[in-house]
Amino acid sequence: MIDDAAVDALLREARGARDRAYAPYSGFPVGAAVESDEGMFAGANVENAAYPTGICAERVAAAAAVSAGARHIAAVVVTGHAEDPITPCGQCRQFLSEFGPGMVVISEGRNGTRRRWSLGDLLPHAFGPKDVEPSGR
Ligand code: THU
Repeated sequence: MIDDAAVDALLREARGARDRAYAPYSGFPVGAAVESDEGMFAGANVENAAYPTGICAERVAAAAAVSAGARHIAAVVVTGHAEDPITPCGQCRQFLSEFGPGMVVISEGRNGTRRRWSLGDLLPHAFGPKDVEPSGR
């Protein structure tokens, strides 16, 4: 469970990261923050002149956590440039699922609206570590 104070703290980090996003091509800055077993980590989307090389805020935040030693993520918050809350893209859903298939996903729009899902609802029947165990081959 993640309480309201923790969500507020994550959203502050995510908004700060969004302000530092590098999104000159889309003009759509996004910030994210994760609550992990190594604490809180934030990230922003980082685009590239070779467009597909860019990376989403959620994966930057999760990779920062995992690089710091985290192996479990309980919650991710995201806030994008849109008025209404956005949801993580398919690639981010898969990436996040590795570190917490049941994690809570919270999104805040610029209009202040918040939405909340379970990652399992956003990515049902996910492919995961168990599927690549040798016994499963
Ligand atoms: N983006 C994110 O960082 N997270 C999302 O949840 C949706 C999309 C980024 C990718 C790209 O840099 C820009 O937003 C427009 O798609």
